Formats: sequence, structure tokens, C-alpha cells
Amino acid sequence: MSRARYLAAAAVGAVAFGALSGLFRGAARAEDPPAGEFAPIYRVLESPRCQNCHPSGDAPHIGDAGQRHRMNVSRRSPEAGLPCTTCHRTTNAAFVHGPPGVSPEWRMPPADQPMPFEGKSAHDLCEQLKDPKRNGGKSLADLHTHFEKDPLVLWGWDPGPGRAVPPMAHDALVKHVDAWIAKGAPCPP
Ligand code: HEC
Ligand code: HEC
Repeated sequence: MSRARYLAAAAVGAVAFGALSGLFRGAARAEDPPAGEFAPIYRVLESPRCQNCHPSGDAPHIGDAGQRHRMNVSRRSPEAGLPCTTCHRTTNAAFVHGPPGVSPEWRMPPADQPMPFEGKSAHDLCEQLKDPKRNGGKSLADLHTHFEKDPLVLWGWDPGPGRAVPPMAHDALVKHVDAWIAKGAPCPP
């Protein structure tokens, strides 16, 4: 393929991808994309790899379209005798629709601080993210470390076969988080 034709094809692909991800985002919230330092971070938080473990209810979601987890699994399953790690091991299953996994433990945020990302406006999610009463007692420095090093965050960029990665590279996300924190972690209106 010539360079010009490759660029044209890439442009069409990018437009189609933009329209598709717009559809997914449109399903999660009905508002315009936010502006400001938090905007790129929000795009990652609202992507399926992050939303599926940070749902609005107690049940994790599955796949790029965010279906409910099969077998009625929920945040309460471990107490009921079915730990997530029965199926989610320390590495991804090598086949499509196999259970993903990463070391250490695969789990949802706790019931007393459920940390939902799904269906939140950029303003609300931004405020929740930096509120130590709702984010597991994290300072802004802790948040930086979480975004940079947490194994469950890093898993998003190595999610196993058949799952899309978030809409920007992991190091680009960390740079956006640093820029946001450097400005005092402002939230969109
Ligand atoms: C397997 C489930 C799982 C996945 C997938 C997951 N998380 Fe989390 N996340 C958790 C758990 C559990 C906690 C609470 C642990 C803690 O506070 O250290 C958490 C906490 C957080 C927090 C701190 C809480 C807050 O509201 O400030 C952030 C930020 C975060 N996750 C970002 C992400 C991002 C970004 C992704 C996607 C790239 C992601 N998570 C994917 C389980 C998950
Ligand atoms: C009985 C086995 C089993 C148990 C128990 C289980 N899961 Fe799963 N889970 C799976 C399988 C299999 C998949 C892959 C489904 C697919 O890709 O179609 C999956 C996928 C997921 C995904 C979707 C990943 C993505 O982004 O597509 C999340 C999130 C998840 N599980 C969270 C949990 C949590 C949290 C628990 C415990 C509360 C749990 N699961 C318990 C089998 C299980």
C-alpha cells in the first residue's frame, strides 16, 4: 500500500473508531466530553477495562460492551464462598473469553468504598477520585502511585486476548495524571 493510501485508510479507521467509542460513551452518560486537565484521564476511566471493575452496582461487567458478569457474580460473591480468584488466577487465560488475571489478587473495590466509575459525569468522578473518604484514603501522591504502579491498573494494557486496551498509552496517562496534580487536581464544572 502506498503511504498516501495507508494514511487515508488509517484516517477512515480513526474516524470509525471515534464514532464507535462515542457510541459506547454515549451509552454511559449523556453529556459533552469535558475540557481541561481531567478530560484525558476521564476517557481512560470510562473505558471498558476500568469500568468493568468499577460499575455503578455490585456486579462486575464483562467485555468491551460491558455486559453483566455471568453466573450472578457480584461484590458479595467472596463472602458467599466464591472468591474471584477461584477463576481469576495470576495471569490471563490464553484464550478468548477465558478469565483474565494478574498478580496480586483480582477483586472489586470494597462495599463501603465502592469507587464506581460507570455513569459518573466528569465532574462527579473527578471529585470522587480525590476524596480520601471515597478513594481508599489516598492523597494525590498516592493516586499518582496507584495510576503508575497498581497491578490492576497496569492489567488494562495487557488484558488478554479479545479485549481492547484503553484509548491512550499507559505512560501518556501517567503524564496526564501528573499534569492534573501539578495544577492542583482541578475538576471540570
Ligand atoms: C479487577 C478489578 C479492577 C480493575 C480491572 C481496575 N480496578 Fe481500579 N480498583 C480496583 C480495586 C480493588 C481498587 C481499590 C484498591 C485500592 O484502593 O488500593 C481500585 C481503585 C482504583 C483507584 C483509586 C480509587 C479512586 O477512586 O481514586 C483508581 C484511580 C483506579 N482504581 C483506577 C483504575 C483504572 C485507571 C483502571 C483501568 C485501567 C482500573 N482501575 C481497573 C479494582 C480494579
Ligand atoms: C466462576 C468463575 C468466575 C468467578 C468466580 C469470577 N469470574 Fe470474573 N470472569 C470470569 C470469566 C470466564 C471471565 C471472562 C468473560 C469473557 O471475557 O467473556 C470473567 C471476566 C471478568 C471481568 C471482565 C474483564 C473485562 O474487562 O472484560 C471482570 C471485571 C471480572 N470478571 C471481575 C470479577 C470479580 C471482581 C469477581 C469476584 C467478585 C469475579 N470476576 C469472579 C469468571 C469468573
